Amino acid sequence: MIKIENLTKQYGKFTAVDNLFLEIKEGEIFGFVGPNGAGKTTTLKMISTLLKPTSGNIFIDDIDVSKNIKEARNSIGYMPDFFGVYDNLKVDEYLEFYADIAGLNKADKKKMLGELLELVDLSHKVDAYVDSLSRGMKQRLCLARSLIHNPRFLILDEPASGMDPRARVQMKDILRELKRMGKTILISSHILPELAELCTSIGIIERGKIVISGTVDEIMKKVSGTNGVRIKVLNNTEKAINLLMEEPLVSDIYDNDNIIEFGFSGNEEDMANLIKRLVLKEISLASFNPLQSNLEEIFMQVTKGDVE
Ligand SMILES: Nc1ncnc2c1ncn2[C@@H]1O[C@H](COP(=O)(O)OP(=O)(O)OP(=O)(O)O)[C@@H](O)[C@H]1O
Ligand SMILES: [Mg+2]
Repeated sequence: MIKIENLTKQYGKFTAVDNLFLEIKEGEIFGFVGPNGAGKTTTLKMISTLLKPTSGNIFIDDIDVSKNIKEARNSIGYMPDFFGVYDNLKVDEYLEFYADIAGLNKADKKKMLGELLELVDLSHKVDAYVDSLSRGMKQRLCLARSLIHNPRFLILDEPASGMDPRARVQMKDILRELKRMGKTILISSHILPELAELCTSIGIIERGKIVISGTVDEIMKKVSGTNGVRIKVLNNTEKAINLLMEEPLVSDIYDNDNIIEFGFSGNEEDMANLIKRLVLKEISLASFNPLQSNLEEIFMQVTKGDVE
């Protein structure tokens, strides 16, 4: 678990991160979202021990990061938002260099390098010069580098920035694989919808403060109070609408032939009960889908300060 309490960073008189609280549970992919200059990179660098907080605490499991920098670094893999230039270094030499820093022995090093190159799909580029790689490949190499000491926590600063859609999908697949391997991942982005389908939880930061955090569902509910639902019925559309109108948690019913959309302000159990009631009244439900299409709007709404 990563726990952040009262975290503040000042650059001179400017407060970049302002009394931040965050908790990232084991096994999560936590999306850290905010507009440019919100304080994402500053926060991630503090968690990764590369920047000293002005005040506040960061715990990685029970390790107080400021007091045990070495131990914290062993648990964390950090992928920066920018990476340097690597004159005359080949992909394998580059990773070997970092494997040596991590203190891997020869056998472990060989095994680790093979596995990592396969994970990030760069096995075919092992002999290529790093500078000759495409941007997406460089980012994947950088991800491999952050994994070389087999850390449990990954802190990734906009790992998909500047990538084309196919490369983004590939990056997401790699992150899902890392989650399956048991890693806990904190990932930043300024695009909320991109993270929504990948992340278990999300925190939105603006001007150094968390404006809202929770699971995607929780955030949608906090913001709108209701979730949208779309159902498809095979018969009795009118009867279905009449039944929905009697439901206290249902609002804003809209129908288009046999597709009905409505707002729903209950939890998952309420939703299950609603489905049951419709089916018991002999409505043939062909599909029942919660709608998650308005994340961009939510992001715009909360980062304008419209939400308490
Ligand atoms: N070394 C520094 N000295 C002074 N101010 C800084 C420094 N680093 C960052 N800042 C300021 O702190 C604020 C937060 O910057 P940060 O890089 O953490 O934002 P970010 O959320 O990562 O933005 P982006 O989406 O553009 O990467 C910005 O206003 C930035 O100008
Ligand atoms: Mg940044």
